[in-house]
Amino acid sequence: MKNVVITGSARGLGLEMAKVFIKQGHNVVISDVNNENLEKAMKVLDEMNVEGNAYSCYCDITNYEDIQNLISFAKDKMQTIDIWINNAGVNQSDKAIWELEERDISKVIDIDLKGTMLCSNAIMKEFDKSKSGAIYNVEGYGSNDAKMLGLSIYGTSKRAVTYFTDALAKECETRANGVIIGKLSPGIMITDFITNSLGNGEKIELSEKTKKVYNILGDYPDVVADFLVKGMLKNTKNGTRIEWLTSGKAARRFMFSAFNKRDFFNALEEGK
Ligand SMILES: NC(=O)c1ccc[n+]([C@@H]2O[C@H](COP(=O)([O-])OP(=O)(O)OC[C@H]3O[C@@H](n4cnc5c(N)ncnc54)[C@H](O)[C@@H]3O)[C@@H](O)[C@H]2O)c1
Repeated sequence: MKNVVITGSARGLGLEMAKVFIKQGHNVVISDVNNENLEKAMKVLDEMNVEGNAYSCYCDITNYEDIQNLISFAKDKMQTIDIWINNAGVNQSDKAIWELEERDISKVIDIDLKGTMLCSNAIMKEFDKSKSGAIYNVEGYGSNDAKMLGLSIYGTSKRAVTYFTDALAKECETRANGVIIGKLSPGIMITDFITNSLGNGEKIELSEKTKKVYNILGDYPDVVADFLVKGMLKNTKNGTRIEWLTSGKAARRFMFSAFNKRDFFNALEEGK
């Protein structure tokens, strides 16, 4: 049985991972900057009536005190923390770099990159003492150096998250402190993230071409969460990357795209 903390888990991938963990008898602390969604999420988890326990704690990952409170809360409820997942993230507005406001750039970097660093720093202080624990950081567009108009700041932060995670894994290996570090690569998921900038900022209008690609390559977050959680529970190696949408899988999906009947966006509009 594992004790797990997931940042940004009031909805989307984070919440779906929490569901998979508790279904399998593990304990989870969900946390988020959005209190209203956190309450709704907690209700959903409570109603699941499964073996694992779920707890919720407010945490803005850009605030170091909040992160320390989250660690204390999790230790108080579960005694130990075995897996920490840095999942919280925001998308950017679909704009060129020079069209963005200074605060938009800061927000994406502060949450997606600096927040991941601050959480890793704080939880590593715990794990280094206990000589055990695992940290998983969530990658995203740009992690593999791909570039696209309208995703430059987000892509920069995720590219840096990948570098940072590799660097942290190397430091753990060198210090032989028994802690494992890994990366989660969720591919493309049909969540609020893809149609909202900066958390719940302006709506992002996806072009028909983008929707077509998402219909081929995308998945609902529960499917991805199931795969990622299984990967984390199995993993014992430092530096592992758990990847949902491999290049082989993407190539196969494009190859058979003529038979693809999925229309996530129509389903969203119909409230399915
Ligand atoms: N949706 C995709 O296609 C996709 C693809 C690749 C990677 N990702 C990554 O997966 C992760 C989860 O994405 P999602 O699609 O579930 O997004 P989501 O928007 O559904 O969920 C993100 C959660 O993070 C929370 N959050 C935002 N700022 C925060 C802060 N300062 N402190 C704490 N929580 C905060 C939000 O309130 C939200 O509940 C993100 O890191 C994202 O970059 C998403």
